[in-house]
Amino acid sequence: MTRDTATRSAETLNIGQIADAFLEKYNRPGPRYTSYPTAPVWKDDLGPAELEKFYEAADAKCTPLSLYMHIPFCEALCLFCACTVSIQKDKSVAIPYLDSLKREIDHVSHFVSHNRHVVQFHWGGGTPTYLSPTQMEDLFGYTRERFTFGADAEIGIEVDPRVTNRAHLESLRRLGFNRLSMGIQDFQPKVQETIHRVQPYDMTRALIETARSLGFSSINVDLIYGLPYQTAESFRDTIDQVLTLSPDRVAMFSYAHVPWLKKQQGSFEAHLPEGMEKFKIFLAGLEGFLGAGYLYIGMDHFARPDDELAVAQRNRTLHRNFQGYTTKAGADLYGMGVSAISSIGDAYAQNRREVPAYESAVAERGIATMRGYRLSQDDLIRRAVISRLLCHTVIPKNEIEREFSIAFDDYFSAEMPNLDSFREDGLVILSPDEIRVTPVGRIFIRNVAMTFDRYLHEQQMNLRPLFSRTL
Ligand SMILES: C[S@@+](CC[C@H](N)C(=O)[O-])C[C@H]1O[C@@H](n2cnc3c(N)ncnc32)[C@H](O)[C@@H]1O
Ligand code: SF4
Repeated sequence: MTRDTATRSAETLNIGQIADAFLEKYNRPGPRYTSYPTAPVWKDDLGPAELEKFYEAADAKCTPLSLYMHIPFCEALCLFCACTVSIQKDKSVAIPYLDSLKREIDHVSHFVSHNRHVVQFHWGGGTPTYLSPTQMEDLFGYTRERFTFGADAEIGIEVDPRVTNRAHLESLRRLGFNRLSMGIQDFQPKVQETIHRVQPYDMTRALIETARSLGFSSINVDLIYGLPYQTAESFRDTIDQVLTLSPDRVAMFSYAHVPWLKKQQGSFEAHLPEGMEKFKIFLAGLEGFLGAGYLYIGMDHFARPDDELAVAQRNRTLHRNFQGYTTKAGADLYGMGVSAISSIGDAYAQNRREVPAYESAVAERGIATMRGYRLSQDDLIRRAVISRLLCHTVIPKNEIEREFSIAFDDYFSAEMPNLDSFREDGLVILSPDEIRVTPVGRIFIRNVAMTFDRYLHEQQMNLRPLFSRTL
């Protein structure tokens, strides 16, 4: 598609009409809803014994499995990073960590029958390729001996091109990994220097070419808009470079500025684009990808029209979990490793967030659960509503009514009037049967979802900020 077509796509979204005042109104702190209720609502009263009860209930239901393993280490800190990382130049730290992780894998596997299939498997971080190929092979082999992998399981890993070599990719392919998620963020040298992540285009291109030649079927790249010194023009240049790499999927995250959690982000605060300036950078990305034929799946994600995410969105079988959008419905997520999150049945659970605390908890008890949440019936209803909104951009009221035996408009009588201002601003279309988000409303979909979050008001009264801004 040409840039003209891109402009037409943008016009369909009517984004040219968004004024400063409009942005001011909607660009406020809000969650990304990888879970509902969101993590700040979870409590300290859910520990290993409670989680094991949820393991048992899931096993009785024989649900499919999604396994997530967190490798927290990186060799150097990227200043923008908001992930749970442990910066360690001395790679010997991986040895005791992997011992603990294997111990946890073994413990969890005792609660999982062999007739249950792993449909999704993911190593995230940090940087999983901080490990050597031998360590990766050992860890993967150990896991495979304890769980049954489905024949068409999605097996993915996050890789940082600066520390990933051909030997890593060859090992991963041999093991059966079929998806790579690669951090890029931005290609402009000035931006890269400021965020302490120098990653030339040629290096990234070479790794993608190697991955393709080895047969990885899906290559996803991560970009961030709103980084220091970015402008709409400079980001458009980054997008043009990214398009030459033809990724299957793109995650274009809004830079999350959370200096109260990550102090090092303060170092470039004076150079961050804000408000309309940041929005124009987002727009440059949106136009670039739409113009090149990608579809906007929503909440930062783009995919090619034939990608299974796009197909699942069309068929309304798309789901959302802690890793973003997924086609694997009904799977329970078993998180292992430091800070990892599980979502099993009606519960969430999170592991200890510091490596030493995680390692000693696993040594003592086999798992390192430190907090979590059991969903009430009201939480389940709201989770279903928010999930439909974020995955399908429409809430058919009768689906919720059938699933939960409620009358939608009565149940949400307090919330429905709050949708009026979104309707007046052209973000939603309200009808007796459904709540439908408009193309422009998709950009502000987190704000619409916030209407149905019963805990948000309480959280906003909290003096400490909890979330980054929605745009
Ligand atoms: C665990 S990291 C990626 C893996 C690997 N360590 C790398 O950097 O290439 C996952 C992604 O989170 C995103 N990310 C990290 N910090 C962020 C922030 N403050 N705001 C928005 N996205 C962020 C980045 O796009 C990053 O690629
Ligand atoms: S962005 Fe990736 S490589 Fe950089 S510090 Fe965060 S997890 Fe590590």
